[in-house]
Formats: sequence, C-alpha cells, structure tokens
Amino acid sequence: MLELVNLGKSYGGRAVLAKLSHRFEPGEFVAVMGESGVGKSTLLNLIAGLDAPDSGQVLVDGIPMSGLDDDAATLLRRTRMGFIFQAFHVLPHLTLAQNVALPLLLNGKPDPARAARMLDAVGLAGRGNDFPRQLSGGELQRVAIARALVHRPALLLADEPTGNLDPETADGILHLLRAEIKESGAGAIMVTHSHAAASLADRTLVLTRSGLKLA
Ligand SMILES: Nc1ncnc2c1ncn2[C@@H]1O[C@H](COP(=O)(O)OP(=O)(O)OP(=O)(O)O)[C@@H](O)[C@H]1O
Ligand SMILES: [Mg+2]
Repeated sequence: MLELVNLGKSYGGRAVLAKLSHRFEPGEFVAVMGESGVGKSTLLNLIAGLDAPDSGQVLVDGIPMSGLDDDAATLLRRTRMGFIFQAFHVLPHLTLAQNVALPLLLNGKPDPARAARMLDAVGLAGRGNDFPRQLSGGELQRVAIARALVHRPALLLADEPTGNLDPETADGILHLLRAEIKESGAGAIMVTHSHAAASLADRTLVLTRSGLKLA
C-alpha cells in the first residue's frame, strides 16, 4: 500500500534523506525511531505529500504522490490519511468538538456522535465546547490524536503522538490508537523516541544516515 523508492531530500545542500527505499504492508503498524534531526518528520511529510522529495518516489497504492496535483493530493490526504503532527496544529478558533469533527465534515460525512466518542476515548469527555487555548500540551496532543483517527483513515501518520503525555496516559492512548487502526485495518507509521510506545507496534525501524533498518 505504501512504498518508498530511492527517496532523497536535502535542505540547503545538506542531504537529510538519501536513496531511502522501503515497503510497508497494508494494515501494518510500524514504529520509526532514530536520533533527533535524522529526518523522521521530514519522512512523514514526504509520505503525506506535504513536502516533495528531490529524488525518488512515494507510492500510495501504487500511485506516485508526485504525480498528483495539489487538489488530488489534498483529497487523498483528507479521505485516506490521518496525521498527528509533532506540533499538533489544532485550529485555535474552533472548539475541541469542532476540531475533532473537522475531517468528517470535510469529507461530507458529518457524524457528531463519532466525534464525541473519540473525544471521550482520549479522556476529554465534556470538554467539547472548550477552545484549544484552555488546554494543556498533553490535552492538545490528545485532541490531535482524536482528530487523526475520527474518519478511520487507511493510513495513520503519527509524529511522536505521545511525546507530551505521562507514561500512563501515553499507554492508554497508544492502546486506543492501536485498537482503532486494527479495527479498521489501517496501516500506521508512528515516529517515537519511546521504546514503550514502539513495543506496541508490529515492528520497529530505526532511521539512520544510511537508511531505514529493522531495530
Ligand atoms: N523546512 C526546513 N528547512 C531547512 N531545514 C530543515 C527543514 N525541515 C527540516 N530541516 C532539517 O532537516 C533535518 C531533519 O529534520 P526533521 O525534523 O525531519 O528531524 P527529526 O528526525 O524529526 O528530529 P526530531 O526527533 O528532533 O523531531 C534537521 O537537521 C532539520 O534542521
Ligand atoms: Mg521530528
């Protein structure tokens, strides 16, 4: 379902990713670890088509992301992907309920009950009418997780989804995340610095200067 073929990406003449190839199977939950600055967030952005590689290709269901125009890439992301950003990107002028419901709304499938269930599931029951500024960092992270899962994406891309959570909350959230993707048969790529988080994945890869390797 997802294949990286000889991906290369440089910033300011400095190669971050070079000749990176890997195949992810449908329904696989893969953790990606690796030291800070090695290119993990860059890799997720390339997979989502939020950034373009300098060389090589990202194939989603055999279709090269680079061959899609902006509208087609946006549609693919909106319908098939869920993204948990390292910096949350929760929309400040929408309530928590509206933030979580947004992917369903954009896909023309509004389902307030599902959105409310996801908010409950991440431990924010009754907070739906609050605004993001009223939340702690860890609570914002949980809103972002609920939003990424609400429309049952075929591929979840998660960038340190529990980086701001205490170990116990993180464990609960990761079990929820795993249950949601396994129930819908979705694949997931989760970047994490936590071995406890990675242990919930089906397999763990380490990104180094020389590529993606099995941990
Ligand atoms: N838009 C950009 N412009 C210039 N350099 C960038 C840009 N985005 C990333 N980089 C550089 O690319 C390298 C990889 O960044 P990236 O964010 O992918 O690392 P990471 O593995 O996610 O690190 P962390 O674990 O700290 O989140 C870093 O050296 C970073 O400075
Ligand atoms: Mg990062």
